[in-house]
Amino acid sequence: MPQIGWYGLGSMGLAMASNLQRHLAMKKALGLMYSNRTMARGSPLQALGAIAEPNFEKVVSQCGIIFTMVSNDSVLQSLLSTAMSSSQSLKDKIFVDCSTVHPETVRSAVSQLKSKDASYVAAPVFGGNPIAVDGKLVFAIGGPKSATEAVKPLIQDVMGRRVIDCGEDATKSSLLKIAGNIVTVNMMEAVGEAQVFAEKTGLGTGPMEELIGEAFGPVAGGYSKRLTTGAYAPPLDSRPGFGVSLAIKDARHAMSMAQEQGVELPGLEIARANMEAAREYGGECLDSSAMYGTLRQKAGLEFWNDKSRRE
Ligand SMILES: NC(=O)c1ccc[n+]([C@@H]2O[C@H](COP(=O)([O-])OP(=O)(O)OC[C@H]3O[C@@H](n4cnc5c(N)ncnc54)[C@H](OP(=O)(O)O)[C@@H]3O)[C@@H](O)[C@H]2O)c1
Repeated sequence: MPQIGWYGLGSMGLAMASNLQRHLAMKKALGLMYSNRTMARGSPLQALGAIAEPNFEKVVSQCGIIFTMVSNDSVLQSLLSTAMSSSQSLKDKIFVDCSTVHPETVRSAVSQLKSKDASYVAAPVFGGNPIAVDGKLVFAIGGPKSATEAVKPLIQDVMGRRVIDCGEDATKSSLLKIAGNIVTVNMMEAVGEAQVFAEKTGLGTGPMEELIGEAFGPVAGGYSKRLTTGAYAPPLDSRPGFGVSLAIKDARHAMSMAQEQGVELPGLEIARANMEAAREYGGECLDSSAMYGTLRQKAGLEFWNDKSRRE
């Protein structure tokens, strides 16, 4: 097995990389070589035996398979530019990106890397931080067969419970991820609306949450808990589970593609506007479920609830 590299230790990346490092240690393979903008976030990973390397170019030069898990398209593009401009050969290296990015970003990455005889695998994920911690994410994988086959054993039952194979066209996995997030964001909006309704009518958020979890499943139940525990607006010194700007990015990707194809996404448009209003009011340190705060305000309640931060 070649040395494996990792860039990106955010809410998802740290949990995923930790599971991968545990797997590599169990297999007595070389430790995961990791990098991140904020290197200090890697301390728990280093404690598991992973190797810190602040210079991404060095990670690329020393590893055969390089995973990235970063916030958005421009961060991924800048990492790829660093790799592409390196004087080292990229021949036969496999770049695996797990972030949620636009299919056009994927298309460009595929062709850039192909010109250097390297492969790009798109492997975006479904599931939030607790599911990443449990190693139970769902991956949508796409790319050249030889590359995806090399990567799957590092994913299945290591970081993920299921790998959906989208074939050789990596843009298809990214498309699936963006399409899936239409459901995610709409569901968060629906749960937020129901919980504001329950509070204002005197029904109460407790019975509503019990029903949501029972009747609509653990994912919807988890979204409700983000509201009732105040996680939609976490303390300012913490990192949200799924940052509001990341969900706005996903909604914009879906809306731009929908527009090109003449598809209307009215529910998503409402949720995006409510998330943007929430960010305007509460700043960046908000979860994607923070449209709830906007919905509360529209109903004459405070943006904050009794469990969230208060300003
Ligand atoms: N959170 C979820 O529930 C979830 C679920 C599925 C998919 N996703 C997708 O997965 C990706 C990662 O999500 P996340 O929640 O882990 O995000 P996150 O917590 O915000 O972490 C983002 C990562 O990108 C790095 N980064 C941000 N800006 C950078 C820059 N300008 N230069 C270099 N590095 C930069 C961060 O470095 P620092 O540590 O230095 O800030 C961190 O490693 C996103 O594309 C998101 O849409 C998230």
